[in-house]
Amino acid sequence: MDGAAASRRRFLQAGIAGGAALATAGAARAAGDPVITEVQDWNRYLGDGVDAAPYGMPSEFESHVVRRDVPWLTADPVSSINFTPLHELDGIITPNGLCFERHHGGTAIIDPADHRLMINGLVDTPLVFTMQDLMRFPRENRVYFLECAANSGMEWRGAQLNGCQFTHGMVHCVVYTGVPLKYLLEEAGVKTTGKWVLAEGADAAAMTRSIPIEKALDDCLVAFKMNGEALRAEQGYPVRLVVPGWEGNMWVKWLRRLEVGDEPWAQREETSKYTDLLANGKARRHTWLMDVKSVITTPSPQAPITHGRGQTVISGLAWSGNGRIKRVDVSLDGGRNWHEARVDGPSLSKALHRFYYDFQWDGSDMLIQSRAMDEAGFIQPTKNELRAARGENSIYHNNGIQTWHVKADGAVENVEVS
Ligand code: MTE
Ligand code: CO
Repeated sequence: MDGAAASRRRFLQAGIAGGAALATAGAARAAGDPVITEVQDWNRYLGDGVDAAPYGMPSEFESHVVRRDVPWLTADPVSSINFTPLHELDGIITPNGLCFERHHGGTAIIDPADHRLMINGLVDTPLVFTMQDLMRFPRENRVYFLECAANSGMEWRGAQLNGCQFTHGMVHCVVYTGVPLKYLLEEAGVKTTGKWVLAEGADAAAMTRSIPIEKALDDCLVAFKMNGEALRAEQGYPVRLVVPGWEGNMWVKWLRRLEVGDEPWAQREETSKYTDLLANGKARRHTWLMDVKSVITTPSPQAPITHGRGQTVISGLAWSGNGRIKRVDVSLDGGRNWHEARVDGPSLSKALHRFYYDFQWDGSDMLIQSRAMDEAGFIQPTKNELRAARGENSIYHNNGIQTWHVKADGAVENVEVS
């Protein structure tokens, strides 16, 4: 039997046994339960009519599901970061209002009527597009994750932040609607000497990054919609660059200019920032690709186990800048033994993948980990393997295996087992 079939069988067995136990507990509980035996307000009184909320919001009982920042991480909220509440989400799509935000100069508020996108440099015809012009090009819909290179950066030297929202929440995944960058570059006509594209934002930071022309002509999008509606202001409204599988810093928001050149520009964000200082004092640069990575989102420090032992669901996310996730394994004992997890939902290239491991918890302490493998054959390393290769100075590109310590009472803590 292959691994997937074996894991499916294990799941079905767990499901049948666990399902019977849960149903028995449920029947016993029903006797005298007031929410069943007494008529409740929501059953007695009419609710709001349509249009009480012309733009719908989540239930009031979900008000804790929000982005959060870590105030001491940055000096000022204008050049700062907040984090996606991964522990509250399921599936692979991040709701627009929960996508983490990273700005270097605050959120630019731009009326689309006043927005222009310029292409200049080594092109046959320099061009300026209005938003209306962009809408006349053929567009595509693609699901991609965006991960900041600094995601998990605080965890290089050991466990630090207590929750996957903070250790791994600089990632989101939405369906983008946009025009392939290739079409716009073709319209301008890239000269044969044009080897790089500089993308520039219209925000107060005027963020700029150099992108090799091969990537620009491959799968980059100039996107104006996320999850079907206009980009949120904080995500770059009215238009942002999508650079699939590559570090979030290159996904320039409020995109206003694309310059074609013959060499990289060595801007701030590709020299003093977003390079990786190695143990020998040299720095790696142009480390664009986001490597294969995963994290268990429940249970996790902000989402403890509250139901006691027995049937338990472990759930998490896996992703890779190389393409699809081929397999995810879960360990309950700090990496000694591994069990194949069940990936469920769409498996799309350079998108988040959702995995589950369904099992009977005996109520004892666990050191839970997940380890992803991508279709290119890369396997997520332990943190010791990472540090052996890269030293202790790094911040960016930490894709090491994360460990959560689940205690007998269900509480969960961030620990390092490497
Ligand atoms: N683009 C502009 N113009 N200004 C910025 O500050 N931040 C970058 C990138 N694009 C930034 C930007 C960084 S570091 C990241 S990780 C992503 O945007 C974050 O995208 P998000 O805010 O949509 O999550
Ligand atoms: Co970033």
